Amino acid sequence: MDDVRRPVAVFDSGMGGVSVLRELVRLMPEEDYLYYGDSANAPYGTRSVDDVRALTLRRIGALHARGIKAAVIACNTATSAAVDLLRRTFSDIPIIGMEPAVKPAVLAHPHGRVLVLATPLTLREEKFNALLKQYASLAEIVKIPCPELVEFVERGDLGSMAVYDYLEQRLGAYRGKADAAVLGCTHFPFLRRAIAQVLGNETELFDGGAGTARETARQLSARGTRAEAGHVGTVLIENSREDSQEIALTRRLLQSDL
Ligand code: DGL
Repeated sequence: MDDVRRPVAVFDSGMGGVSVLRELVRLMPEEDYLYYGDSANAPYGTRSVDDVRALTLRRIGALHARGIKAAVIACNTATSAAVDLLRRTFSDIPIIGMEPAVKPAVLAHPHGRVLVLATPLTLREEKFNALLKQYASLAEIVKIPCPELVEFVERGDLGSMAVYDYLEQRLGAYRGKADAAVLGCTHFPFLRRAIAQVLGNETELFDGGAGTARETARQLSARGTRAEAGHVGTVLIENSREDSQEIALTRRLLQSDL
């Protein structure tokens, strides 16, 4: 297949990566996308690193065999566990990973208090702790593991009382007391409204979706594999649960107004 016509794979443990897919489609509507959510094995964030590495390697291997031209690991957890291994294993295509948007949050709020909401695995991995070390002297950075938020999004629950109760319990103490909050898991932008409401208007929210889309565009351009302008791209959605409800919810998230 012609290089420019091969699809860009977008992978997540479930539906969270759709928050990145939305940005990719907005920036490069001419590309064809193949979105794969591993909902049957979600959440990844409470699994062991070895488990997440094996699941990610197997899935990207299967997508690679289908002729993708790039893989976006639209999951902070899978990136922390497996991105280096993926780059070594599939060195013929760009592998674009994610990291919590600590840098833009700290630079926008020097000496402020920056909360980082992510999965337990992301927050304990070496990648995140190296990032933390880099910015720790510039702001007070507070790690807040929120694994249950992933499961709310997987169920399509973006704002029930249970969501607000959970957020109140994790974040209520910071209401009006944080300058920024980093949504360090791709599921969390779907709960942006609820998170903003619990933290209050003074807290600026950051996520890595748009930056990841720009980085993907840069990498495709550098390899000369961007689709021709004017081509109308497609989005194919697949999920390890092989359940039509899963696909319908993924489409609904793709079209939702964040
Ligand atoms: N969406 C993933 C992330 O960005 C994690 C979700 C999970 O725990 O499965 O970290």
